[in-house]
Amino acid sequence: MRSPIADYLSQLHGDLLKLTAGRPYQGIPAMAGADTSKFAIALATVDGHVYKVGDAGLEFSIQSISKPFSYGLALDDQGLAAVDAKIDVEPSGDAFNEISLARETGRPANAMINAGAIATVSLVKDAETPRFARILEQFSLCAGRELHLSETIYASEALTGHRNRALAYLLRSFGIIETDPTPVLEDYFKACSVMVNTEDLAMMAATLANGGTQPSTGVQVMSPEAVQRVLSVMTTCGMYDDAGAWISAVGLPAKSGVGGGLIAVLPGQLGLAVYSPALDAHGSSVRGLAASERISRDMGLHFV
Ligand code: DON
Repeated sequence: MRSPIADYLSQLHGDLLKLTAGRPYQGIPAMAGADTSKFAIALATVDGHVYKVGDAGLEFSIQSISKPFSYGLALDDQGLAAVDAKIDVEPSGDAFNEISLARETGRPANAMINAGAIATVSLVKDAETPRFARILEQFSLCAGRELHLSETIYASEALTGHRNRALAYLLRSFGIIETDPTPVLEDYFKACSVMVNTEDLAMMAATLANGGTQPSTGVQVMSPEAVQRVLSVMTTCGMYDDAGAWISAVGLPAKSGVGGGLIAVLPGQLGLAVYSPALDAHGSSVRGLAASERISRDMGLHFV
């Protein structure tokens, strides 16, 4: 028997398929031709139940949705104070790839913009297990299955990532990054090139909703302190220069990615994920925004 939620999601999916605005991200050649007819919505509850509709098993690159999960790892590796010393928690009000660094210190505005996310990767411990392996394990533990890297997307990112290189070298010049920026950049590009499907993203969002414990495996992936901080910064900065409009319309901590994924979190309750690759001017999925807005309104999720 179909549940009322499944019926509701099917109806919503059908309605929003009619939206045709936006286009796939053109900055990474391997993603430029993504099929804009693809569209999926998944909801995962903190007790591990998943509702999904559309192309929910189709894989795409996680892109900037990697940032909150890398940030959580860095916070647990170094402690909040040490991370704060390098990365601020203020919205930049600017696009994701802006040079939003403090004039005197070079401290990036927050961990959701590229500059802050590159600094974040440098703070993830590169120990016995290499840094990217630890990042991939963190994402996999949140998703509840083993994720993998797309070598094609990674190569395409690396080929065109000159602005990110410039940011990393600026961070190095200020001493925000204390090591050779090149391996840091490689790991940042790799983190963005991890492949996920919409159900994975819903489970990752639900892990944040559940205080860092993955709802279906019961594994504690992140400390509650790190999760609280991650969700705070997602609330104020996760949607970049659209953060104010987003929080007004949807009222949930969120993160978008230029791969077409978008997550939103209702703490204590559920994780929402949407995928559709046509993006608006801020780099967020057009159908992702519309679906989140409708779900938040229809289910009364606006928490502020
Ligand atoms: O570093 C970049 O610019 C891309 N790999 C990720 C950007 C991104 O997903 C921005 N979010 N919407």
